[in-house]
Amino acid sequence: PDTYDLEKCLGKGTYGTVMKATNVQTGQSVALKCQRPAWVWEYYIAREIKARITNPHMLRGFMDCSHCYVVNNASLLVSEFSKYGTLLAVTNQVKIATGKPLIEPLAIYFTIEMLQIVEYLHKCQIIHGDIKPDNFLLMHVPTEDVRPTIQLIDFGCSIDMSLFPEGTKFTQIIKTEDFTCIEMQTGRPWTYQTDLYCLAASAHCLLFGNYMRVTHTGDKWFITTKMP
Ligand SMILES: Nc1ncnc2c1ncn2[C@@H]1O[C@H](COP(=O)(O)OP(=O)(O)OP(=O)(O)O)[C@@H](O)[C@H]1O
Ligand SMILES: [Mg+2]
Repeated sequence: PDTYDLEKCLGKGTYGTVMKATNVQTGQSVALKCQRPAWVWEYYIAREIKARITNPHMLRGFMDCSHCYVVNNASLLVSEFSKYGTLLAVTNQVKIATGKPLIEPLAIYFTIEMLQIVEYLHKCQIIHGDIKPDNFLLMHVPTEDVRPTIQLIDFGCSIDMSLFPEGTKFTQIIKTEDFTCIEMQTGRPWTYQTDLYCLAASAHCLLFGNYMRVTHTGDKWFITTKMP
């Protein structure tokens, strides 16, 4: 098996830790996501995406899991390391450095990429289930290259719709603060809408540098942010 040198902790979630490491054999920098108990669902989803995506350019938009090690009580997922970090981190760093959110063209650029990535994901009959700026990694700075510069990660709560009978809807309410779609807020069944709502909320974060809040009059829902 491969040997890894652990460098530092990149993030801590509910069920695990993500570490930066170097593959001693190849010298490649990787992210190691360690989960207890073992959770191989994310590996399954990542592999299914790679198998179902038909546009080779779009493969770059999704986490590339090279290996998954599974032992009795834990699993270890190996993926490519991002030196720039997440879109949330990028937005926060820009805010610290300039006091402002991302410049509008850049916010729009990343939003278009997020939309493309999620469109392709849904075409593969997969719901991500946890779309937010901290689940997109910036992999390259934007150039003329048509391939995505960002990458969707964290498929731990994803749903493979191809495993359910056609027309299946869900009623579970996932309370991720500021990322709970209208269907969940109003007790209606949902499927792909959850990702679309979270996409809008993520675009809002990039554009305004704060979370999207919504309100309604009757059946009509609005964001509370004043448009310039
Ligand atoms: N390949 C990577 N390169 C750089 N940083 C990463 C990488 N993968 C994950 N991270 C960092 O680790 C964090 C957690 O990763 P991930 O979302 O996969 O784990 P999680 O346990 O599901 O976390 P959470 O519960 O917070 O969503 C990310 O938000 C990011 O900051
Ligand atoms: Mg995450």
